[in-house]
Amino acid sequence: MRTRTQVGIIGAGPAGLLLQHLLAQQGVDSVLVENRSREYCEKRQRAGVLEHGSVELLKEIGLGDRMVREGLTHSGIYLQFDGERHHIDFPSLTGGRTLTVYAQTEVVKDLIAAGLAAGHQLHFEVSETAVRDIDTERPVLSFVDADGVAHEVECDAIAGCDGFHGVSRPAIPSLRVSERTYPFAWLGILATVPPSTDELIYAHSPHGFAMHSMRSTEVSRLYIQVDPDEKIEDWSDERIWEQLQLRLGHPGWTLSEGPITEKSITPMRSFVAEPMRHGRLFLAGDAAHIVPPTGAKGLNLAVADVKVLANALVRLLVEGKADLADAYSETCLTRVWRSTWFSWFMTSMLHRFPVESFASPAEAEFQERLQIAQLRQVVSSTAAATNLAENYAGWPLP
Ligand code: FAD
Ligand code: DHB
Repeated sequence: MRTRTQVGIIGAGPAGLLLQHLLAQQGVDSVLVENRSREYCEKRQRAGVLEHGSVELLKEIGLGDRMVREGLTHSGIYLQFDGERHHIDFPSLTGGRTLTVYAQTEVVKDLIAAGLAAGHQLHFEVSETAVRDIDTERPVLSFVDADGVAHEVECDAIAGCDGFHGVSRPAIPSLRVSERTYPFAWLGILATVPPSTDELIYAHSPHGFAMHSMRSTEVSRLYIQVDPDEKIEDWSDERIWEQLQLRLGHPGWTLSEGPITEKSITPMRSFVAEPMRHGRLFLAGDAAHIVPPTGAKGLNLAVADVKVLANALVRLLVEGKADLADAYSETCLTRVWRSTWFSWFMTSMLHRFPVESFASPAEAEFQERLQIAQLRQVVSSTAAATNLAENYAGWPLP
């Protein structure tokens, strides 16, 4: 079946779904295809922290009602190391900026429900997604829908919002790739137990990194650093809680335990592909770049990309001007590299690097002493704390 739209969008993650809304609000029609089911997209456990700018954008476009009702506003984070726990207060360091804990699953549910209610064209469970003719003004998005019907959608532009393993990035002929794979992974759990903390705790410990986050007043989200080749089957609930108690433990404070309802292991890497556009194919979000989760930046970067992209596409397709589209990659990459730096900084400061990743045990010791010196600087110097707070809370959206 041959059809036509203005923008073909691949991927129903936060990037693709939000782009479809931003375009629709400015009168641009689109077709979005996703190879997973709606239920899978809504259940996939990932990010939890929204920057001030992401929250404001969702509110501005009328999709923030439930987030405002159910999201948890936080005014900073705790940094824990060497037996100490310090609060970094974001509003006082950043001119009032806060962060919101509202799970990516909930953002995705809100975007899908509003999209379907508004009559957006959303196809779940497609297969054989492909793009062609991206060097022309009529690129084609092809796919087979859930009923087995083959579609060819003639577009004016295609947005590759299909995450790290999608088909869009490989369709770009020459990319400059920068990459770093970290020698550890995160084991994340959801537990039905009220959070034991008022703010997120990031803990450096001799046993490895741990973090205490949350999803609601009833559900906690916790992470521990593990070796990248660990198997989730080898981590019983008891073993996970034991490590969390060991790494997060602090005098006069108790970590409450509860039933674990979800657990998974995520590798940690940084990856940036440049440019983020070739002809009429534009990459956005994890399709173009990945950051390790320590800085809570991935979802927020995806939001920033699609805000820039929506403006560029409206200018191109409604006003007939290519200036913003031509500048798209460069505009996004400034922020991408700032987030890449911040995520590297947080990751390097807080994790225990395996001794084998150094030339000698003395070098491993050197790295650990530097981490503590860095952490001490952040908690004792307003300049250093401001740098962390500004980057974590996020700078204004373009
Ligand atoms: P995705 O969410 O990956 O969406 C891409 C979509 O494309 C998927 O639905 C996929 O099924 C679909 N797709 C792929 N291939 C095809 C195809 N061929 N055809 C059709 N569809 C396709 N970020 C933060 O900002 N804050 C955090 O606190 C944070 N914590 C995190 C914690 C963890 C444990 C993890 C794993 C990530 C975390 N992130 C965080 C990162 C964040 O989740 C991602 O950056 C975000 O999902 C990127 O959104 P996206 O829309 O670009 O990509
Ligand atoms: C969460 C994830 C992160 O990567 C982070 O830095 C903070 C919180 C979370 O899932 O809640």
